[in-house]
Amino acid sequence: MHYYVYNGFLVQFSQVPLGVDLLPIELPWIEKYRPEFLKEVIGQKEIVPRLQSYTKTRNCPNMLFSGPAGVGKTSAAVALAKEFFGKEFERNFLELNASDERGIDVVRKTIKDFARTLAFNSDFKIIFLDESDALTSDAQQALRRTMEKYTKTCRFILSCNYSSRLIEPIQSRCVVFRFKPLLSKDMDKRLNEIAKEEKLEVDRKALDAIIYVSMGDMRKAVNVLQAASTLNKKVEEDMVFNVSSRARPSEIKEMISLALKGEFLEARSRLDALMYEHGMSGEDVILQIYREVIGMDEAELNSKTKVALMDIIGEYNFRLVEGANERIQLEALLAQFMKFKE
Ligand SMILES: Nc1ncnc2c1ncn2[C@@H]1O[C@H](COP(=O)(O)OP(=O)(O)O)[C@@H](O)[C@H]1O
Ligand SMILES: [Mg+2]
Repeated sequence: MHYYVYNGFLVQFSQVPLGVDLLPIELPWIEKYRPEFLKEVIGQKEIVPRLQSYTKTRNCPNMLFSGPAGVGKTSAAVALAKEFFGKEFERNFLELNASDERGIDVVRKTIKDFARTLAFNSDFKIIFLDESDALTSDAQQALRRTMEKYTKTCRFILSCNYSSRLIEPIQSRCVVFRFKPLLSKDMDKRLNEIAKEEKLEVDRKALDAIIYVSMGDMRKAVNVLQAASTLNKKVEEDMVFNVSSRARPSEIKEMISLALKGEFLEARSRLDALMYEHGMSGEDVILQIYREVIGMDEAELNSKTKVALMDIIGEYNFRLVEGANERIQLEALLAQFMKFKE
């Protein structure tokens, strides 16, 4: 099976939008370079040692791994189970996705079948339930009863993006671990290791670009590195921005400053380039505008104007999320920015 990297995500052919040209990938590096042991899970300095101590004492509580995408939640759960169970890993560990399209009943039946039999060479089995915050609150109630029913024979590790989306009785049954976006220096080190292993030549600018577009999401960083390297073993900044459908920070900044200078037509043609040449969605553009405005210092933008621009960005982001026409809304946003012409 072939995969493609689109927008930093690994997708199948049927999910690539028409008209977008991508090179296929044989073996996804996010699997090839998935940490096998806990010590290989980078960042997460407060979490890894605690998980390692569970493998020493041969016991662990139910756990909730909460945090953004691509920061090592699944990897940590799998590595923990591998270290815990050794060669009995496959028989004692079950990985499920709560948002399984066949429904929560299938999930519960799978859990039941798995939990019914005794663990091999261990007091309990471990069940990892990904995306548990995707469950409705009814389904969460059912999950909670399942957790209670099998407390003797199973430990649950739930992963989620927002722990607040889980009902209180589940939260209170779990020790919560908050995973954080990875730091640039940690990502940098790991990306260099992968590049070396794959015999790539990645220059400083290209690495910085990968770190910029992936915002602490290591899955995205690895996908982008792999996609950029399918074209050439020598990875350059341009390819990184291309395969990730992100603009260079300078392109966004220029568009903003043109709008602030009142040069609407010029700003608008920059917007065209972003959306048609880079293939960015309206939401991608607005998120990058947000990032650049927030990052400008007092010399580039006085704080009073900054606050006013934030207000506008918030309003137009909301309109996009509500489904208004992207082009019209972004042009209107640029028009709003023009009111701050000095
Ligand atoms: N903390 C990390 N240390 C090393 N690699 C990581 C880390 N987080 C993510 N990765 C890389 O990204 C891939 C996806 O990570 P994963 O653990 O599935 O993220 P999550 O479950 O938090 O979304 C991994 O296979 C690995 O290549
Ligand atoms: Mg995961």
